[in-house]
Amino acid sequence: MTIHIGAAPGQIAETVLMPGDPYRARWAAQTFLDDAILVNEVRGMLGYTGTWKGNRVTIQGSGMGMPSLSIYANELIRDFGAQTLIRIGSCGGMQAEVNLRDVVLALTASSLSTPSSGIFRDLNFAPAANYNLLRAAAIAATDRGVKTHVGGIYSTDVFYDERPDLTEQMTRHGILAVEMETAELYTLAARHRRRALAVLTVSDHLQTGEELPSEERERSFGDMVEIALEAAFA
Ligand code: ADE
Repeated sequence: MTIHIGAAPGQIAETVLMPGDPYRARWAAQTFLDDAILVNEVRGMLGYTGTWKGNRVTIQGSGMGMPSLSIYANELIRDFGAQTLIRIGSCGGMQAEVNLRDVVLALTASSLSTPSSGIFRDLNFAPAANYNLLRAAAIAATDRGVKTHVGGIYSTDVFYDERPDLTEQMTRHGILAVEMETAELYTLAARHRRRALAVLTVSDHLQTGEELPSEERERSFGDMVEIALEAAFA
């Protein structure tokens, strides 16, 4: 048991899926896992452990933003021994060919800063996905017939961003999408030699202003959970 995760020793699996929304953690556990039990409800940040095709899996909410994800990922890695951490969440499309409902697999995650930035001083560390997980997820997504993009994303601290120049530069440099957690997840995974990946669905688009209706978000979220599970145990 840690400050933010009330699970008993051994209750967290080596493979952890991390949606931002704790209610998504509950939905995914109830929908995709066998014998799922609630292992964390501290601050309402729900976590469940069960099995998928006989493999133990924990689905633990991360909250929104890198400071929140950093707390949960640190405790999962350092105190509970998590080895594979896969973020499943939404993102905002930033390229014309990246459409609503498409899946984005984050090869790298650029950012202005992360909770880890202080230790790098002037170095621009390049947070990157685990290659084997990324490859397996790309195959799983393609097999499901989901339109998938693999490339760089941008992890921001500001959802209501008022810096159009920054968005423009990111777009100009081929960044596929924006979200708020992955750069810190990849940095922590690198530091602790763990495997990490972000599987994201495009829920809105920065240039067109389109947004996915809420009832469709659940279906696309289900695709992500299955892609993440297949990649984890490929
Ligand atoms: N997550 C989903 N859409 C987003 C956006 N437009 N900006 C930041 N994070 C997001």
